[in-house]
Amino acid sequence: MATAFSLAHYTLFSLRTSSLFLHRRRNAFNHFSVPFSSSSSLSTTDKRKCRRLVVSILELGGVKIAKDDVVRDDPTNNVPDTIFSKLGMQLHRRNQHPIGILKNAIYEYFDTNFSTKFDKFDELCPLVSVKQNFDDVLVPADHVSRSYNDTYYVDSQTVLRCHTSAHQAELLREGHTHFLVTGDVYRRDSIDSTHYPVFHQMEGFRVFSPDEWEPSGLDATSYAAEDLKKCLEGLARHLFGAVEMRWIDTYFPFTNPSFELEIYFKENWLEVLGCGVTEQEILRRNGRPDNVAWAFGLGLERLAMVLFDIPDIRLFWSNDERFISQFCSGQLGIKFKPFSKYPPCYKDMSFWINESFTENNLCEVIRGVAGDLVEEVSLIDNFTNKKGMTSHCYRIAYRSMERSLTDEEINDLQWNVREQVLNKLNVVLR
Ligand code: DAH
Repeated sequence: MATAFSLAHYTLFSLRTSSLFLHRRRNAFNHFSVPFSSSSSLSTTDKRKCRRLVVSILELGGVKIAKDDVVRDDPTNNVPDTIFSKLGMQLHRRNQHPIGILKNAIYEYFDTNFSTKFDKFDELCPLVSVKQNFDDVLVPADHVSRSYNDTYYVDSQTVLRCHTSAHQAELLREGHTHFLVTGDVYRRDSIDSTHYPVFHQMEGFRVFSPDEWEPSGLDATSYAAEDLKKCLEGLARHLFGAVEMRWIDTYFPFTNPSFELEIYFKENWLEVLGCGVTEQEILRRNGRPDNVAWAFGLGLERLAMVLFDIPDIRLFWSNDERFISQFCSGQLGIKFKPFSKYPPCYKDMSFWINESFTENNLCEVIRGVAGDLVEEVSLIDNFTNKKGMTSHCYRIAYRSMERSLTDEEINDLQWNVREQVLNKLNVVLR
């Protein structure tokens, strides 16, 4: 499980939150521009990596990136092939895809209400430096989200961004005062219908100058907080119609005060986004000491699952015509009609764990073998014997979104999973 701040995971629709930094988890559903800026904090080598990445994305419409730049057999690298294969897919840039449709609907809200003042970035390179991903947004040095268990490291100083907040500082330094950043983000995590190691976020950021808040008689922070809430309530109405909403106080390292917005949808309080008034330190470091700003981050899959009635997060990655053909550019209200649900098949696996065992590592190994055929991995038994040895039993649910799986196929998968778990995790099967 993604421990993150953990502050953990949005309560939303029971979808994993897009938030690394919230604490709650699983109480409910519970993510153009310049490839990188010259002022970016990436090293020259990283920039070369990014350039190659972006160039291949531009040239090939998406997927061909030099693999050994991103996946290397080296202890500082934990990016598996399955993750590499997602780089450059850019679901958020497909106008007929639910993620792209949702992005465009949010753009429409900001364009209409702020007369296109917000600069839009949706092609920023997902390979970023540790500094961009963590330091620039004041994530403490010992924060769990920095661990190899939670984040994909390309090398000790480069990660696959785990949130779009990674771009706040560079865009501020480039002089942007109103911006939206949409992109794919990457997190090592557990497996279920609402969790996938790649998902999409949109970040919003707005800077105010003293002549904006001074006439209001409010202090700068209250002024920004009030404006933020008004703006995001309007966005929620734009997406969901006339809904009931509530604000929850929370914590993020990069904002103070910090809030989450929840909306009442189909009899559940659904967490929609995290936001707050930007820490002054971030503005100060990036050339805006006399300003105040607000920021928000929202997970697009989570919202799209609710808005389009999509039951499993893996579907977003499906190339099946029966999925893809159901959505139309510009149409937010379309409800997905499942093309029959194929039966799941469950396989259990018990082993003695060791000190370095983590569930995220287990899930990575299972995904490496079974890919999107694995629907859920859940711990169903956990005990420690008198000798102090701890046993875990996991239930793996295999199910294809697209077809029935044969017994033989599942047995083969399970056999390979057992072998890989043994080899790679050094556990002892029971
Ligand atoms: N980056 C946060 C996350 O992934 C989401 C977020 C929260 C972004 C608050 C923001 C913000 O810009 O102000 O968990």
